[in-house]
Amino acid sequence: MLAKKTLARKEAPDGGAEDRRDALGVSRLSLAVGAGERAIPLLADVTVRVGRGETVGLVGESGSGKSLTARTALGMLPRGARATGSVTVSDVDVLSAGRKTLRDLRRTRASMIFQDPRASINPVRRIGDYLTEGLRARGVPARAAAERALDLLDQVGIRDPGSAVRRFPHEFSGGMLQRVVIAGALSTEPELLLADEPTTALDVTTQAEVIALLKNMQQVHGTGMLFVTHDLDLAAAICDRIYVMYAGRIVEESVSAALFTAPAHPYTRALLEASPSVHGDKVAIKAIKGRPRALAESPSGCSFRDRCPLAGDDCAASVPAHRPHGTSLVACLHPEQVTP
Ligand SMILES: Nc1ncnc2c1ncn2[C@@H]1O[C@H](COP(=O)(O)OP(=O)(O)OP(=O)(O)O)[C@@H](O)[C@H]1O
Ligand SMILES: [Mg+2]
Repeated sequence: MLAKKTLARKEAPDGGAEDRRDALGVSRLSLAVGAGERAIPLLADVTVRVGRGETVGLVGESGSGKSLTARTALGMLPRGARATGSVTVSDVDVLSAGRKTLRDLRRTRASMIFQDPRASINPVRRIGDYLTEGLRARGVPARAAAERALDLLDQVGIRDPGSAVRRFPHEFSGGMLQRVVIAGALSTEPELLLADEPTTALDVTTQAEVIALLKNMQQVHGTGMLFVTHDLDLAAAICDRIYVMYAGRIVEESVSAALFTAPAHPYTRALLEASPSVHGDKVAIKAIKGRPRALAESPSGCSFRDRCPLAGDDCAASVPAHRPHGTSLVACLHPEQVTP
């Protein structure tokens, strides 16, 4: 397991209170595609904040809305989607910002690393052009940008950066290309880095190197990082705070260490029990019964209630509001039955 570094800001969850120093503030974000009766809700009431220099995890099963949340944070909404609530990145109001403002934001102050490096990089442009683009947008002269590109490639462990800048994406393996994408994301020393399962496609050794790189760059530049993953072990190792998502909603938020020892939501506990690495191999792994739900098909009241061993009639009445329990903010009526 990766060593947990000293944390820049370790604090109790605060329910997403806006802070001018925050790298990301998502407040009561709801997202739906389609209009009128045909509207399909995808996210509901999502509140997430990432402080400067902080690493914040976003975990949950496939389809829970992690990528939608990360993409919406940079104004990349699905076609035909409508968002309500607010999203602030480095003082930019993302949901009302125009195209140019968003493009500038993405080029300079906020970066995103996607799970699949090939999907996020133009296949017909040389790596050098890809890396200098953001720097040039920030007004860095061409020669200085070219030198910085070489330096970045060296820092992310690409051998012979001089020849790498002349190569095209298809000439790199997946792991090497992910390093290039990370170099690109870090080229502008962003205030916010959204990392959407950046290491899922990589082997464990490369994964550890890439994570170390991200943490190092983050510490040097004070970048706030939202780290999307379904790997709880990895989240435990690198995150200061963690948000747990289920069916398009945040169901629990806690400081990382406490979430793993004292989960407050039955879903969080179920995720932990289903994770072999967090529990060690002596404890029987329990699969979560049923299948994950999308927001549109989740039951009334608590979305998790049809899979929850603790659910009672009261859970069907309305969506539970977030309330404090231990170090968590949890959307459950019975957290004391999960961890007293
Ligand atoms: N453009 C879209 N139009 C309609 N529904 C969408 C769209 N994009 C995503 N969804 C739905 O929204 C839900 C959340 O998707 P999202 O990609 O955010 O999940 P995720 O948590 O990132 O999952 P994974 O771990 O598999 O990456 C899913 O049910 C998905 O089918
Ligand atoms: Mg995803």
